[in-house]
Amino acid sequence: MRIGIAMSRERPNWPVRRLTRALETRQCEVITFRLKDLSIHMNSESVQFLLPRRRPLDVNGIILRSIGGGSTDQITSRISILEALEFSGVRIFNSAYSHRRAKDKLATLVWLAHHGIPIPRTTVTERLAVAVAATKRYSDIVSKPLRGSQGQGIFRLQEPDLAFRIFKILQTANQTILIQEFIETPGRDIRVFVVGERIIGAMYRYAKPGDWKTNISRGGKPTECTLSKDLESIALQAAKAMKMDFAGIDILESDEGYVVNEINAAPNWSGLQKATGVDAAEEIVDYIFHQLQS
Ligand SMILES: Nc1ncnc2c1ncn2[C@@H]1O[C@H](COP(=O)(O)OP(=O)(O)O)[C@@H](O)[C@H]1O
Ligand SMILES: [Mg+2]
Repeated sequence: MRIGIAMSRERPNWPVRRLTRALETRQCEVITFRLKDLSIHMNSESVQFLLPRRRPLDVNGIILRSIGGGSTDQITSRISILEALEFSGVRIFNSAYSHRRAKDKLATLVWLAHHGIPIPRTTVTERLAVAVAATKRYSDIVSKPLRGSQGQGIFRLQEPDLAFRIFKILQTANQTILIQEFIETPGRDIRVFVVGERIIGAMYRYAKPGDWKTNISRGGKPTECTLSKDLESIALQAAKAMKMDFAGIDILESDEGYVVNEINAAPNWSGLQKATGVDAAEEIVDYIFHQLQS
């Protein structure tokens, strides 16, 4: 068996190293690469995928850790190459479009809402007047980039004049405005790790004192969380709605109940492993082998 891992950097990061080790202990050959280094030659009868030095990408499956950053052209062409790989019989975990959807906060919310999964009240607009009106409706809001991670570029806007100024800047920079009601949580969120149709572990992520963002990368503290049946059901429904092979499902506890905040298509699990002892690499690799062999 040969498995590719698509990653963002030239050097493998911790999750990629862990996945590589789990694959290699199962006598699997691992090819790590960046999608920016993958080229496609095609005509209507055949297709070839080439890595640098004309090395063909010959794999049974690919773990998609990252599409990588870049311009709209670069990102859309990488997604199309991934789809061509899927058409040629290579299974991608998570599939190209599921990964893309999860990377896009609006696409995620549209899909979750469509499947009846509770989400925070959200407004997305390119119109300044609409954004300003929404600010008044929600009173306490957060503004987020459509694509982003680690809590970067997300801020709370309690002062209407500041909100106006920020929206104006976003508009001038051709950015779409995404605003959401700020949800008063008990200073934490819940990260549920789903692999296949199974929950392999869950944790609370407590924001560090004085902060409200719970991302581990910015000092959030993980502790084990035992899920109620309700929470299990929401997390599994969200993963299924988004057609994920594996995902980190982030849930906020609001006054009105649980809401799904986002879906991570390539979550890091070092926090989860610390809090629960669960090694997601083993679970993901077992799942992939099972899928490829069935
Ligand atoms: N509407 C919200 N209300 C309260 N807290 C939020 C809200 N949206 C995000 N947060 C907090 O900010 C963190 C980062 O936001 P998130 O939407 O997950 O973006 P990122 O992709 O950068 O992690 C979340 O983990 C959560 O703790
Ligand atoms: Mg997040």
